[in-house]
Amino acid sequence: MPTRLNPCSYLPRRLQIVATLTVFVLLCIIFLGTSNSEDFNKYLDEVPYGPKLQEGVHHAVEGAHQVVDHIPNPFGTPAHKPLPEQANSSSGEARWYSDWKWRNPFSSSTTLDEERAVLPPLQNRPPIYTYYDVSSRRKDAQSKKAEQDLLLLWRRAWWAQGFKPMVLSKSEAMNNPLYRAFEDKEMDKALQNELMRWLAWGNMGTGILSSFLAFPMAPYDDPMLSFLRRGEYPTLTRYEGLGNGLYIGTRGDIEAALKEAIASQALHRVKYIDEAVPEDTIQVDAKHDAIAHYSDSMLKSKYGPISEKLKDLKTVGDGLALLPPLINSHLHLTWQNIFTKGISVLKPLPEHTTIMVQPAVDIAMNLTQCPYSPVPTSCPPNRPKCKTCVSNSVKINIAKVFRNDSQTFTIATVPHPYTIQSLVKNNDHLELKTIRRQTDRDVWILAATKELLGTGLSSFARLPSLKDAIASEYGSSRSLWLTAERPYQKDSEKDLEELDWIFGFEFPRDVQPDGKSETPVPGPERRPDPPKPEYGDGPIPSEKDLQNERSLLEKTKRALGTKAATEVRDIIEAWNLADTEAWKFIRAFNARRRKERRQWEDEESSYLGKGVFDRWVDKITGDT
Ligand SMILES: *[C@@H]1O[C@H](CO)[C@@H](O)[C@H](O)[C@H]1NC(C)=O
Ligand SMILES: *[C@@H]1O[C@H](CO)[C@@H](O)[C@H](O)[C@H]1NC(C)=O
Ligand SMILES: *[C@@H]1O[C@H](CO)[C@@H](O)[C@H](O)[C@H]1NC(C)=O
Repeated sequence: MPTRLNPCSYLPRRLQIVATLTVFVLLCIIFLGTSNSEDFNKYLDEVPYGPKLQEGVHHAVEGAHQVVDHIPNPFGTPAHKPLPEQANSSSGEARWYSDWKWRNPFSSSTTLDEERAVLPPLQNRPPIYTYYDVSSRRKDAQSKKAEQDLLLLWRRAWWAQGFKPMVLSKSEAMNNPLYRAFEDKEMDKALQNELMRWLAWGNMGTGILSSFLAFPMAPYDDPMLSFLRRGEYPTLTRYEGLGNGLYIGTRGDIEAALKEAIASQALHRVKYIDEAVPEDTIQVDAKHDAIAHYSDSMLKSKYGPISEKLKDLKTVGDGLALLPPLINSHLHLTWQNIFTKGISVLKPLPEHTTIMVQPAVDIAMNLTQCPYSPVPTSCPPNRPKCKTCVSNSVKINIAKVFRNDSQTFTIATVPHPYTIQSLVKNNDHLELKTIRRQTDRDVWILAATKELLGTGLSSFARLPSLKDAIASEYGSSRSLWLTAERPYQKDSEKDLEELDWIFGFEFPRDVQPDGKSETPVPGPERRPDPPKPEYGDGPIPSEKDLQNERSLLEKTKRALGTKAATEVRDIIEAWNLADTEAWKFIRAFNARRRKERRQWEDEESSYLGKGVFDRWVDKITGDT
């Protein structure tokens, strides 16, 4: 309430107080009692709120009501306390809260806390197990290195597809109470190894048993992968054509099958567990094409040069060393084949943001490269009709608007409103009155979703769709969202590793920070033409413009982190509620994703006091 300009000041003092209070209360009633959320939305945002909206209205109205709830109560006592923090829900500055209400425009309407973004609940990752018994493996250093690379590749590929990959060892198998029953039975070496796998699997319980040469090579929403991710396996099943590459089953089914095998008369003369149990114990599924299994027979029929090497004891290490690059190239190729329309780099305000989107363009460029493959132009085992990397050049498109297209992968860079306003205004010293008088609100989200949602919607009503594009299962498997201030940095190995786990193959780096070439053997088959695409059909900035953008971006990045900028930043955030919300949402989404993976790796490494990886390394060094 203005005090100096009180219109009641000509009244006697006591009446003044009464009149002021009355006016205040009346205002409050009118203001808070507004049932017309259209007016209210207008109050918060000048963009007209057209009658033609359909779905958006629903969300927006919902959102507006929640904003009403959130207006500070003029009578003092706050109505609700912020929701309690969830466990492990912060990382650096980013804080989040996982809840089904994540699509609401404003997180603070759920958390009652400006800094906490509401994210969708984490997807449950069903376990997938592989068995690796170091004592039964080859001992030479080259083979060991190759096998460790394969295990890493296997874990990364399954993690990227939404699973929790776990490597089991002999100790899990020996932990199974049924282990005793097999211990002194006579049987073939191959069957023995197979039984150990099953004992280890049975010890863990319901889940998927995979060979570490079986890889998911299909879109994230492939029906088979979706089924596996659900984590419910009605029958003990193997997959036709994959040999013993993949089984699914429940704890009870696995145990029953193992008991059948113990009782079997045929145990001493069979090689596979399927042959030792009654025929209908393990169902066979013939309808699937999402899994690539690099079995002996597959290698022989399709990747001759490697198979030749594996046959000869003298070259088996060389042969094994070729498998990781072969499989990695197939994983990458599969990804490129899924996004047939290429990669779209989002650049909604092209006049000012060339430098800002450069990290996204870099990532896009490297994703379009052809990784080294020891069998050039080969296809994955499960995708014989693939388009090889050489014949299929992946397009990069610099797009002014976000397009929801299932065959396009989008890489977007979202700036904090402080950053984008500095760039647009070409001024790193924003002042209060410039912000209020001369800046448009929420410029980024309005520009980015212009095509997706038309021009009639308020910026708030756009948030649910944007959040959907970022964090839904459909959206997150087709896009990568960066914040402009902290994109993935190409000289940070940690950041690049993050990308490896997001994409499920080794993100192409080519040149290591220490300047050494990563692949000792011939370089990439082909590299796309040098960059030019970053301008799209927008204006081509001069060298001076670019220099200017670069220094502005650096300055705002630095300023954003300082105390001195807090006031201006808060005002800009309040002035650009939707852009701020989007930015915080992405910051939290990425932070949580990073944290989820690191936490899982910590868990793995605390297991038995040592990481599974260390366990092998230990054994290896102990063995030699
Ligand atoms: C939080 O993180 C710690 C250590 O990273 C972990 O031990 C704990 O189980 C986590 N809590 C939850 C609820 O995930
Ligand atoms: C994109 O399209 C898919 C499928 O058509 C739909 O489920 C999804 O909600 C859309 N996303 C957005 C942001 O509109
Ligand atoms: C992309 O590859 C080039 C070499 O081809 C490398 O210099 C650059 O750092 C890579 N970019 C990223 C983001 O890794």
